[in-house]
Amino acid sequence: MKALVLGSSGFLGSYLGFVLPALRWQIAGLSRDGAEYFPRNRHVGSAQEIERLLEAGGYDVVINAIAMASHERCEKEPAEAVLINATLPGRWAAVCARTGAKFVHISTDAVFDGESERAYTEADSPNPKGVEGSPKLEGEEAVSQANANALILRTNFYGWSATGGIGILDFFVNSFSQGVAITGFTDYRVSSLYMGDLVDAMVSAIDRGASGVLHAVASDSASKYDFGLAVATEFGLDSSVMRPGALSDAATLSVRGRDLALSTAKIEGILGRPMPSTFSGLARARAERSALMDYFGQSTV
Ligand SMILES: NC(=O)c1ccc[n+]([C@@H]2O[C@H](COP(=O)([O-])OP(=O)(O)OC[C@H]3O[C@@H](n4cnc5c(N)ncnc54)[C@H](OP(=O)(O)O)[C@@H]3O)[C@@H](O)[C@H]2O)c1
Repeated sequence: MKALVLGSSGFLGSYLGFVLPALRWQIAGLSRDGAEYFPRNRHVGSAQEIERLLEAGGYDVVINAIAMASHERCEKEPAEAVLINATLPGRWAAVCARTGAKFVHISTDAVFDGESERAYTEADSPNPKGVEGSPKLEGEEAVSQANANALILRTNFYGWSATGGIGILDFFVNSFSQGVAITGFTDYRVSSLYMGDLVDAMVSAIDRGASGVLHAVASDSASKYDFGLAVATEFGLDSSVMRPGALSDAATLSVRGRDLALSTAKIEGILGRPMPSTFSGLARARAERSALMDYFGQSTV
């Protein structure tokens, strides 16, 4: 499979450069800067340049991992959030509809309000609560309108970052290793999936010709506090620096849904297998860490 990754410098995009070649995909990446580790990476100066490169075609699959993913940044720069998370994905999806490349768009569990008593299905009406969710929902709509064959994956994931300081896994491992006092939210639940398991599901869904919106998340959900405890157990770390606390007490964080458990019934029907759980991904994360850090050019302790 010949694929182009948009956003090869990002948390998810950078990991795709590690894992897809192992699945014998021939990949290239686009980033504004950096991502020297990424195979066949190219720096692009503008959205127009991305569009021109997509117009040139030559790819079976285009994966859009470009986003303004931080809730807090979306709150500060709402117009840019709409451009990056909604307008541009629609334009890129339209180009791929013309060239015939499969457009895979990464979306988020934050399109839901987190008030439901049960896990959200793809048939449930989104109702974003936070500032990131609204433009991401507009992005889903723009992509589906522009390209009926596009695959839109609503997800929530964890993994290792190139800097060692992005995401919930780095946060817990660093805090426990360094003995930094932290709060683990007991009232904030997500169906977070290890990135490797997310990529497996994405590749299988593409192989099966899936399109439309799919929930590509873990089969279960966990609070951040329970996830922290599981990280400590997996990595043999002391979690006593973590105190249980409430999301509502975290004054610096933007508003977000509290229970963003998503149902995986639809994707499991397509893939013909259960999705992995949040906790089962931790063993894979531990096993992959050293090879991933070699890829990033970092050393592990
Ligand atoms: N992280 C999570 O847990 C999570 C949860 C749910 C959903 N998601 C979704 O997963 C996807 C990937 O998220 P992520 O955490 O990997 O995001 P990320 O680390 O913030 O990466 C975003 C990527 O987009 C690029 N980008 C941002 N603004 C751009 C612009 N104006 N022009 C060109 N490139 C731009 C960034 O490039 P630079 O490096 O140059 O800034 C980076 O490569 C997003 O769609 C997000 O909504 C993530």
